[in-house]
Amino acid sequence: MKCRRCREPAVIDIRRHNAAFCRDCFLHHCREQVRRAIDEHRMIEPGERVLVAVSGGKDSLALWHLLGALGHEADGLYIGLGIDEYSEESAALVRTFATGRGLKLHEVDLAAEWGFDVPTAARTTRRAPCGSCGLSKRHLFNRVALTHGYPVVATGHNLDDEAAVLLGNVLRWETGYLARQYPVLPASDGFARKVKPLIRLGEREMAAYCVLEGIDYQVEECPMAAGNRHLGYKEVLNALEDRSPGAKAAFLFGFLDRGHDLFAGLAGIAGTGGGASGEGPVLAPCASCGSPTTGEVCAFCRLRERVRDDTGPAPGPEPASAPSQTPRP
Ligand code: AMP
Ligand code: FES
Ligand code: ZN
Repeated sequence: MKCRRCREPAVIDIRRHNAAFCRDCFLHHCREQVRRAIDEHRMIEPGERVLVAVSGGKDSLALWHLLGALGHEADGLYIGLGIDEYSEESAALVRTFATGRGLKLHEVDLAAEWGFDVPTAARTTRRAPCGSCGLSKRHLFNRVALTHGYPVVATGHNLDDEAAVLLGNVLRWETGYLARQYPVLPASDGFARKVKPLIRLGEREMAAYCVLEGIDYQVEECPMAAGNRHLGYKEVLNALEDRSPGAKAAFLFGFLDRGHDLFAGLAGIAGTGGGASGEGPVLAPCASCGSPTTGEVCAFCRLRERVRDDTGPAPGPEPASAPSQTPRP
């Protein structure tokens, strides 16, 4: 097996590209895919500071590394979710990555700063933990971005993640979610832009990137996500991909190119090029934390209150008042 670019011996083959690469050309390929995703969807403007949400897994650590390699000023954000040793190990891996490379890392500990952790929230709501986990992460990503003046938040969702979400949305014809499934969510008042620069790279490529770059990452899956529907969708898509390489990418990119705007139109949301999010619902500051919300109190604060009512007063201090900064569009 020879490298497609330089004809040296290859270390990895990527069936959907019908190509194999040596180490250096593979790393170049990853950088090019991220650069292309960023350019194609205008994810990051030159000179913008990026806040990268890093979980300690391969995708987000590789993303942080790749953004740096492409010359972006990118700082990290780790959220301690309180999932026992899994969270402690993940935090240690993120800190090692950041200190070893002299990178700036923000940390938020859900229990210490907001009075609850993901296992407690899951017990209170009696729902799958991923629900309160996702809600808390989205809230805190945005809050930290606004507080520290980052116009854009990047997450490590890759091609496999996005194709699995798409399959789930299509299986239930979730037209509202299909209208919003896109690698860029534009900024709006009180919300930073959200971007997914890894959509052109698969899970296997991200693992190979970390190994070849010597990035130590959390290899365990989150113990609370076992049995989660998306893992099943990923298995189904992998079986399809095995029989027809490229099927997964065709499914996702076909939707982004030709399907998304139809659903966005149905939902009355501006299309892909737009940048504006259309006539959204009216937002006002949350009475408790100041984040923009459609109700009086945001979903994150309602969750906090439910857990507090269930378990008694929170040990941590009441967090300071709302972030006031509005991100640049
Ligand atoms: P997940 O929701 O676990 O599939 O993770 C999706 C993306 O969210 C990751 O690639 C990270 O960018 C981000 N993320 C997940 N967990 C954390 C965390 N504990 N702290 C910061 N970012 C996270
Ligand atoms: Fe959120 Fe596992 S990382 S429930
Ligand atoms: Zn709130």
